[in-house]
Amino acid sequence: MNFQINSFEEYQDAYKKSVENPEQFWGEIADHFFWKRKWNNVLNWNFTEPNIKWFEGGKLNITENCLDRHIYQNGDTPAIIWEPNDPTEAHRILTYKQLLAKVEQFANVLKNNNVRKGDRVCIYLPMVPELVIAILACARIGAIHSVVFGGFSAQSIADRINDAECKLVITADGGFRGPKVLELKSIVDDALMQCKSVEKVIVLTRSRTPVSMIKGRDVWWEDEIKKVETQDNPPCPAEEMDSEDPLFVLYTSGSTGKPKGVVHTTAGYMVYTGYTFSNVFQYQPGEVYFCTADIGWITGHSYIVYGPLSQGATSLMFEGVPTYPDAGRFWDIVEKYKVNILYTAPTAIRSLMAFGDSFIEGKDLSSLKKLGSVGEPINKEAWEWYHEKIGRGKAPITDTWWQTENGGILIAPLPGITPTIPSYAMLPLPGVQPCLMDENGNELEGNDVSGNLCIKFPWPGMLRTTWGDHERCRQTYFTAYKNMYFTGDGCYRSPEGYYRITGRVDDVLNVSGHRIGTAELENAINMHSDVVESAIVGYPHPVKGQGIYAYVIANHHIDAEGTRKDILQTVTRLIGAIAKPDIIQFVTDLPKTRSGKIMRRILRKIAEGELSSLGDTTTLQDPTVVEKIIEGAEKLRK
Ligand code: WT7
Repeated sequence: MNFQINSFEEYQDAYKKSVENPEQFWGEIADHFFWKRKWNNVLNWNFTEPNIKWFEGGKLNITENCLDRHIYQNGDTPAIIWEPNDPTEAHRILTYKQLLAKVEQFANVLKNNNVRKGDRVCIYLPMVPELVIAILACARIGAIHSVVFGGFSAQSIADRINDAECKLVITADGGFRGPKVLELKSIVDDALMQCKSVEKVIVLTRSRTPVSMIKGRDVWWEDEIKKVETQDNPPCPAEEMDSEDPLFVLYTSGSTGKPKGVVHTTAGYMVYTGYTFSNVFQYQPGEVYFCTADIGWITGHSYIVYGPLSQGATSLMFEGVPTYPDAGRFWDIVEKYKVNILYTAPTAIRSLMAFGDSFIEGKDLSSLKKLGSVGEPINKEAWEWYHEKIGRGKAPITDTWWQTENGGILIAPLPGITPTIPSYAMLPLPGVQPCLMDENGNELEGNDVSGNLCIKFPWPGMLRTTWGDHERCRQTYFTAYKNMYFTGDGCYRSPEGYYRITGRVDDVLNVSGHRIGTAELENAINMHSDVVESAIVGYPHPVKGQGIYAYVIANHHIDAEGTRKDILQTVTRLIGAIAKPDIIQFVTDLPKTRSGKIMRRILRKIAEGELSSLGDTTTLQDPTVVEKIIEGAEKLRK
């Protein structure tokens, strides 16, 4: 598309313009999309409430931008290529024309099941094309989707459904993930025992896992499709949406409490994901683009579904895991579909690296032109392996920094245009104004400085609120620094002005690219009847980036091994297996200040094994606690 930047000079010009005249800049980019009615104002904002409105007065439907507008010239272009978990099962390709037909059909199914504009729909599906169809069908009729990652537990689903008061759930009998079958419907059934708002459940047949269908509540996807087919498969016109109508809610963890529903709205999110997809991947027509994320996370929303489709790209989605049937699976897929752009996570790179190069040997990776990384800091070793072995020293790597709340990529090199340095996200995209802040709330000007990363000015893809609790949105992101969005990340700006993200500065862990809130996890562990108190910290993990270290005070009469297992079970039940601690250390006490605050800094150092730099422990209620914990940690290591 013609807002693609082609040279470093063009990048600098675009950046300058985006700062000097943001409204003109974004207005011109928005002109490349299809509007039912143009906006009155490009931007209205303040960060104090916060109140952020992009393209107010505009009317549009994002699915017309992702589907209808490509039909005339590119209707037969593959929109989605689907690679199944089992490589011997047939793959599927949906062209733009076919995808539109399926979306319209399923949108009519939603209408038949009483879903209306503004209603919330929870989607708990495996990585199959019907997940994309379900998402776009919601957007087609103006329903707000809330996709829940297939690894979350019944309790997590229930919490999310209740918070958003979802009316309908879309799930499958089961899903395949590597050698495992996930019993999705049965998990939904457990969740729904706590959910009053849900009237209907639509169940897709995928794994043929036995399920119990509840009369009056549960219907089969396939039966519902038949009903709209017999009505001559009428098309489903796209609902006219306001620019600021919510498009979706996506729950993410923070440093306190339960996960919050990040709300993204229609026009700004569309413009931002489309613009950043085109530029950050330098997408050219005909290229095959493969993002390995799960659509249950923001990366999948923005860069499997909305961004690529709004740009008419071919987006490859993969149902399985990188190590099934063996650690060469990604490379088989690259070879099979001649993938040109690969977007994956450092944790996947490190885990495949550890399997050795034999899984790459003999695989034709020559189609790969651009590589992307997302989700966590990528260490130099992984960057170099990715560059040499996968990119054959030729494909540039774009290390993309962003967050669920951002909607799209904020800081990243443009491959082939911006220089790259391992472990650096390099430069902000046009429209993004990062700044580094010190502890006292002063901006750190100039280069060769480290501070807390904030963004000074709105960008179209940013969150607007957190579902049902605007105050929480304000508190979390807009109060740490006046008139700024606070990211929660630490960052270094090099002498050349390049950005390097150094990791979270709050109590949020990043485990295999998944965000885990320490408070949420502690609450889950504390639910176990033998647990008195717990404290969670992260520690460096060779594959996951961060591992989860749990310090647990348990009742003294317990059998440690049994309790350890029970705690893992409790976490799996309350949150999901992704939040299971890697290490549980039973302790008799936790290091606390005289006011009773847990000194996490000390616990972190012990978990990292950095005992020489524990710092001042004299202000503790009981400094001897530390020695006992160190002793216990050493025993555990042996
Ligand atoms: C956190 C956001 C949206 C991407 C998927 C994760 C970390 C993300 C990078 C990167 C260093 C990164 C940050 C951020 N992060 N990308 N390229 N380099 N750190 O989304 O779950 O919202 O987590 O992931 O710490 O705050 P998320």
